[in-house]
Amino acid sequence: MDAIAELRGKYLEQVAKAVDINGLEGVRLAALGKKGEISAKMRELGQMSAEDRLIAGPALNGLKSEIDAALKARRAALEDAELDARLQGEWLDVTLPGRPRPQGTIHPISQVMEELTAIFADMGFSVAEGPQIESDWYNFDALNIAPEHPSRQEMDTFYMHRAADDHRPPHVLRTHTSPVQIRAMQTQGAPIRVIAPGRVYRMDMDQTHTPMFHQVEGLAIDRDITMAQLKWTLEEFCRAFFEVEEVELRFRASHFPFTEPSAEVDIRCSWEGGQLKIGEGNDWLEILGSGMVHPHVLRSGGIDPEKWQGFAFGMGIDRIAMLKYGIPDLRAFFESDLRWLRHYGFAALDQPGLAAGLSR
Ligand code: DAH
Repeated sequence: MDAIAELRGKYLEQVAKAVDINGLEGVRLAALGKKGEISAKMRELGQMSAEDRLIAGPALNGLKSEIDAALKARRAALEDAELDARLQGEWLDVTLPGRPRPQGTIHPISQVMEELTAIFADMGFSVAEGPQIESDWYNFDALNIAPEHPSRQEMDTFYMHRAADDHRPPHVLRTHTSPVQIRAMQTQGAPIRVIAPGRVYRMDMDQTHTPMFHQVEGLAIDRDITMAQLKWTLEEFCRAFFEVEEVELRFRASHFPFTEPSAEVDIRCSWEGGQLKIGEGNDWLEILGSGMVHPHVLRSGGIDPEKWQGFAFGMGIDRIAMLKYGIPDLRAFFESDLRWLRHYGFAALDQPGLAAGLSR
């Protein structure tokens, strides 16, 4: 009996002193685990005489239940304390003011690229891309631009530096998006309907020119493509882009090496009281160059000009962005003046689309 009292005293004290769940588990194993002290005593019952067992059995069982109950009670108390401590540590003051988050805007050029992509996508054009560093073959030769053509002169074109022993073909910063026409023909074959918006580079800098600017190229190739479809496509685009019921486009005969015939296109507008209006008035603004793709160009792209025709156009994105959003100076686009960006920038959720976003 003394031994039992001793065990009770020892384990009740250890239970009371356990400071966490792990410690408590250690106590449980030492007392009631398979190799625990009390379990060992229970196993000794088998070797006792019937008389002794009659006394020791209930006493041991009582001890076991008592320790078990103490363990459970202590475990519940420890768990409560742990929860209290967490609740103390993890509180949040919901009345604190929020942290300011810097917010940017969408640059008008990006916005206009999204808008025109949405409009042309609606007409069945997908987006094609090409590198900004282009071989002179893609930028000039493939587009039927003769070796002596003035635009090749270092005056206009940025040539990439080449070491004396570098025999790779000369590369340029592309001077227009037209080389993407060739790449699209080579990778897709006919028929084709693509636009290619992107950056282009020329050595030029004044109020209406910057050394880097943006163009969007358009290319449609099929069996029976005519100038009429070019005209409809451009008119439809301008109506949607400038959000006016009627636009009037003027096709002026022109010359580009990569198209035959070629036309430059002006849009009717008015400048009354410094306010630009598209679709009315007596002024004309040039917005793009276009024409029927030259057979030499089709051949450079691996397309048989006996079977396929196409129209192409190249439009200045910066120019049409200035027109649409009344931005007077081209250079401001690239000055990264925060006040300007906040004024002319667009909210991220201002998503363009033919049906919804374009009316602003
Ligand atoms: N590449 C010409 C330029 O940069 C623009 C252009 C004119 C593109 C006529 C065309 C085109 O596709 O058909 O000035």
